[in-house]
Amino acid sequence: MDAALNDQADGWYGAGKASLGPGGDFTTSPELGPLFGACVASWVAEQWERLQCPSSFAVVEFGAGKGSLARSLLDTLREEWSATYEALRLVAVDRSSSMRGHCQSALEPHADRVQVRDAILFEEVTGPSVIVSNEFVDALPVNVARVLDGRLEELHVTLDSDRQFAGVWSKPSTDRIEAYASLFHPQIANGATFMFEAPLDAWDWISAMVADDSVTSILTFDYGFAGVRAGEPQRPEGSIRAMRARQPVADIVGSLFEADLTADVNFDLFTSVAVASGWTADQVVSQADWLIRHGVLERIAGSERATVAERLAAKALIAPGGLGERLKVLELARNCNRRTSRGEVTDNACRPR
Ligand SMILES: C[S@@+](CC[C@H](N)C(=O)[O-])C[C@H]1O[C@@H](n2cnc3c(N)ncnc32)[C@H](O)[C@@H]1O
Repeated sequence: MDAALNDQADGWYGAGKASLGPGGDFTTSPELGPLFGACVASWVAEQWERLQCPSSFAVVEFGAGKGSLARSLLDTLREEWSATYEALRLVAVDRSSSMRGHCQSALEPHADRVQVRDAILFEEVTGPSVIVSNEFVDALPVNVARVLDGRLEELHVTLDSDRQFAGVWSKPSTDRIEAYASLFHPQIANGATFMFEAPLDAWDWISAMVADDSVTSILTFDYGFAGVRAGEPQRPEGSIRAMRARQPVADIVGSLFEADLTADVNFDLFTSVAVASGWTADQVVSQADWLIRHGVLERIAGSERATVAERLAAKALIAPGGLGERLKVLELARNCNRRTSRGEVTDNACRPR
């Protein structure tokens, strides 16, 4: 999955095959217009105030894609929260050089406070940082596994006699798949047959984020689920899917390198990692609920000069049955009762809400 998406010569994102936005392979919320980023800007301004307005402050966007979220976020902050804008540096992180090229152009008007990078070294960031991501975590590679006749197996990919990709079920490549299953798939103990994805990269990513002293909050939008720990059922066939030209692709293994691949995010994993490190986790909510809480309706009502296309795009962000309902949002916040090693956060600056 990693190679199929990220290989710089052949990967779906890495080689610039993916086309995001209306008319592309799929549309993400920031590609629908500036409203989404404007609402995220209000959250960023809130975070800055919660941190007692540090003079230097970073927003790190993972999987920044074409830079549309970062652009509307910065435009809105400059216009509506200029003090936050003055303090802020934005790091747009994307592994794909073609996406970084788009990002660089989109963020040109804010070039004095923006870095576009293929990875981040938090040591280089001054002051506290907040993390944002949209449809990033669901693009992180997962290990596809199944339990059959009480045996745990992993899906490996090989070439068949026609030199086409083919899937083969065999021994798991790492013990971490079983460790993940024992935490999130209690049905493994009672002989059930099911498929699942072990999101090992997402697990490493969230663990690294909450462990970094400079990171004070995380806002992540994605397709995903929560409530496993409360015993809510999951899909027995797992959630991995391939999409191309706005259509699902049935033969996932056969379309490797030629389609987008995603798997639903296990938000419970994020919450449990964060809480175990002393963070506070909000309830997972729908994108529509979150955007409404962050002023999307007022912005729609206030945009008298918006065209019909802009109004329709705005509605798509919150429409039931679409992005508004299917995308979920998780907010995590560091529960600071101590000074961080690098940041300007003081004892009561970053308390649980
Ligand atoms: C579905 S796109 C979302 C783009 C953008 N956030 C949006 O909403 O339009 C996922 C992006 O994540 C990037 N990506 C995947 N793995 C990454 C990683 N480990 N680090 C940084 N970016 C990554 C891909 O190159 C791609 O641009």
